[in-house]
Amino acid sequence: LEILQRLWTGNVTVGMLSPRLQKVLKVQLSSNRHQVVYRGPRGGRRSGVQLYCELKRRTRIQTVDGTEEPFSSLGWARLVPPLPLQESQYQSCAVVMSAGAVLNSSLGWEIDSHDAVLRFNAAPIKGFERDVGTKTTIRIINSQIVARPKHQFNSSSLYRDGTLLVWDPAPYSSDLTQWFEKPDFDLFSPYVQQRRLRPEQPFYILHPEFIWSLWDLIQDNTEDQIQPNPPSSGFTGILLMMSLCREVSVYEFIPSVRRTDLCHYYERYHDDACTLGAYHPLLYEKLLIQRIHQGHQDQLRRGKVTLRGFRTVQC
Ligand code: C5P
Repeated sequence: LEILQRLWTGNVTVGMLSPRLQKVLKVQLSSNRHQVVYRGPRGGRRSGVQLYCELKRRTRIQTVDGTEEPFSSLGWARLVPPLPLQESQYQSCAVVMSAGAVLNSSLGWEIDSHDAVLRFNAAPIKGFERDVGTKTTIRIINSQIVARPKHQFNSSSLYRDGTLLVWDPAPYSSDLTQWFEKPDFDLFSPYVQQRRLRPEQPFYILHPEFIWSLWDLIQDNTEDQIQPNPPSSGFTGILLMMSLCREVSVYEFIPSVRRTDLCHYYERYHDDACTLGAYHPLLYEKLLIQRIHQGHQDQLRRGKVTLRGFRTVQC
């Protein structure tokens, strides 16, 4: 658990991970299952406003909008929500990670005081209101949630409120036809079905180019070679909200004093990979977010990162 404490100062190297997690990282690097070809510079040491400006310049929210093949031929321009996601704007936003360490945080009231709240995957509210609040404005889900029967995407009340964003790990080359024919989990048919069933609920598919541009951004600002897999939903959500909001509070991304190897606050499953990363370059995501935290180190200990929205950053 010492490594988690060190995240408060950003003083972490891969060598501090358990041998098991170091091994997983090596396996991910050598298998490169999404065929990542990385050409950019590595190890940018930007900080402060410079780093904010780089993030602002390179974070362009993109969703599947039906203007590209194969989606245009399928008439998706009329299937996707009429209002582009980028046009939502909020003052203050909360991003609530699903980490076990949100348990007993009593952060619910503070989270609810924001104008918009972002949650992830199957993270519930019922029974956890005191720690996670009650409001959901946007939910980011992975393709497994819409594709696997056990999640009951069609009928579960979890996915009924607010705006939904789904993503799926496409190949790095981002050939949309190849992706459409062979997604990791079939998100396309449930998406079409849901759009027809509940056209009034905004529901978007994150564009693979957006996902991979965030990966490039992490790699360009990290000295080590990072896992060649998409960033975690948590990181994608943070950058999304920095684009839509004037200020962003992130809860339990940098682990607080409540740090634990409990994976999620809503299930009894213990694995420190959930917090430190195995498939996702999660440790590197956390180190990057630590570098742009605007508050005091005390806030990190309480589980809160404060970030500026891109609209307030003058470059
Ligand atoms: O596991 P899941 O992806 O649903 O969790 C949402 C996000 O919360 C993750 O993508 C990750 O960024 C963050 N998380 C974390 N530590 C955990 C569990 C989740 O940082 N123990």
